[in-house]
Amino acid sequence: MLLELSGVTFGYTDRPPILCGADLTLAAGERLCVTGANGSGKSTLLRLIVGLIRPTAGTITAFGHPCLGEADFAKVRRRVGLVFQDPDDQLFCPTVAEDVAFGPLNLGQTRDKAMATVARVLAQLDLRHLQDRVTYQLSGGERRLVTLATVLAMNPEVLLLDEPTNALDADNQARLTDVLQALPHAMVIVSHDAAFRAALGNRALVLQNGQLSPVAQDPVKTV
Ligand SMILES: Nc1ncnc2c1ncn2[C@@H]1O[C@H](COP(=O)(O)OP(=O)(O)O)[C@@H](O)[C@H]1O
Ligand SMILES: [Mg+2]
Repeated sequence: MLLELSGVTFGYTDRPPILCGADLTLAAGERLCVTGANGSGKSTLLRLIVGLIRPTAGTITAFGHPCLGEADFAKVRRRVGLVFQDPDDQLFCPTVAEDVAFGPLNLGQTRDKAMATVARVLAQLDLRHLQDRVTYQLSGGERRLVTLATVLAMNPEVLLLDEPTNALDADNQARLTDVLQALPHAMVIVSHDAAFRAALGNRALVLQNGQLSPVAQDPVKTV
């Protein structure tokens, strides 16, 4: 099992609990869709998996290792890439190339190797034309795709995607679907978009009252 959450419980300070004993598993090759009402805790769940916040009860096991402290979660973040719901939380460099190069440089790649990674990932997403653009001047949809590029540049084994189709037009949504379908990564996909889930997902959970329960696969099978 790549990821295993058992009895995970969490609430923000001075707020009622968001997760109350949530269970989740993710196996190699799975594309697990998570749905749930606004505010049900889907983004919170993804933040817990990569250790940006910590459960008050329950266990998170990643790649067979229980995650107990920052050292464990730091290792998880090398292998599990989270594409945030809001691109502005993820992009902070002046240009697209610098944003995409940031992770590889941080992992110790040379400038040349990092720039080769930038070129490869931008080409994979058909975004070469954005390479030298100023990040904050991009459209919402462009920023969304660049955010995915920054995560793919880190070469993760698992992708956590938080509302990845937000702000994407129909063409970009179709392109994103094609790109994700072609990737071998196990994924957790949080999305309100039923057609997108149906095109990508092979298992689905709904987050309700702090718990995750199985739902039948979405009936829609085409985008
Ligand atoms: N940093 C925070 N501090 C306090 N409450 C938060 C914080 N982030 C999210 N929340 C609240 O926690 C609940 C779950 O949020 P979230 O995980 O973003 O839900 P979802 O992604 O399912 O829409 C919401 O009620 C939200 O307002
Ligand atoms: Mg959310």
